[in-house]
Amino acid sequence: MLQNLKAQPADKILTLMAAYREDPRDTKVDLGVGVYKDASGNTPVMRAVKEAEKRLQKEQTTKAYVGLAGDPAFSDAMIDLVLGDTLPRDRIAAIATPGGTGAIRQALELIKLAAPDATVWLSDPTWPNHPSIIKYLGMKSKTYRYFDKESRNVDYVGMLTDLGAVLPGDVVLLHGCCHNPTGANLTMPQLDGVIKLLQDKSAVPFVDIAYQGFGDGLDADAQATRKIAAAFDNVLIAASCSKNFGIYRERTGILMAVCKDAAQQPLAQQNLAFLNRQNYSFPPDHGARVVTTILNDPKLRADWEAELEETRNGMLGLRQQLADELRRLTNSDRFDFLADHRGMFSQLGTTPELVEKLRADHGIYMVSDSRMNIAGLNEKTVPILAKAIVAAGI
Ligand code: LMR
Repeated sequence: MLQNLKAQPADKILTLMAAYREDPRDTKVDLGVGVYKDASGNTPVMRAVKEAEKRLQKEQTTKAYVGLAGDPAFSDAMIDLVLGDTLPRDRIAAIATPGGTGAIRQALELIKLAAPDATVWLSDPTWPNHPSIIKYLGMKSKTYRYFDKESRNVDYVGMLTDLGAVLPGDVVLLHGCCHNPTGANLTMPQLDGVIKLLQDKSAVPFVDIAYQGFGDGLDADAQATRKIAAAFDNVLIAASCSKNFGIYRERTGILMAVCKDAAQQPLAQQNLAFLNRQNYSFPPDHGARVVTTILNDPKLRADWEAELEETRNGMLGLRQQLADELRRLTNSDRFDFLADHRGMFSQLGTTPELVEKLRADHGIYMVSDSRMNIAGLNEKTVPILAKAIVAAGI
């Protein structure tokens, strides 16, 4: 049987991780996978997470199954974090999932059950795993223009033009904040325009929010998601705790399905629980319990928010430093967009050949589409990167 297997396409982010590990140069700089690193290159366990884990270790008396949807207290805390008081709780069905990717996968499976003929619209570019999972599930998908490689800003006109072809019932995937891979985000007036168009088209928005707290702050980063949730009968929201709680390997995420009204919620909830059962039965609990403990304890929450702010401001500082350095070296404002982008990533908007040159000549690793992880930099590596960008003729 196994001899019939075919090699599967490689994921470009994971391939890059492996290549970086094998590079013997001690001057190498990893700007690949989206993992936060502090100035010493470590991905620390956040203080509040350590404390919550200590408490759990002391107080937890059982590891028995929780429930197919996960712990309701986790859902409540996450719905509050992402949506605030945007919607009545009884309009939202939710399941805990293994990470944000698990939430995306379950959302797509839910779409398959509810609207098997719907096309899922993805931004061009988007996180490579979006199209990969859609293809794997045999679903229809199309792309809409998103990024203008000249200005390195959102191609708003192109986006609206392409979304003009959305059919009723199609699903449009939007990044809640900190667009991955570009770092370019819609302004609020632009978002209003997209919402209006999608309402006119009777489309269903699907929001992927994996970086809440990494852009402009916890509430500011949730603003787009909240606006969208308030504007449609049905919205799917996949949220990840990997980045903002730094619990990547614990696989902690949630899928929320906004229902038209409270009467629609039980059926959606039952379908979500069914999907968990089919795919992995009970979702992982440890990370979810840590998150719930932090969000429901005012002291832990304040400490978590403070550390998240340090992280966010650190990334903003690196963005500004890099933009300033490139302004100085090029005597132009060509790279000012780096300071305007938000989140972990910025896309330089250059060719795979020049990205490869950065790797070969300078040991700088970024994804072939020229996405770089800003959190992979530090004050010392920013000038090295700036010089390399100029030397490569980008
Ligand atoms: C990324 O985009 O680098 C992260 O979301 C990690 C991943 O799984 O690809």
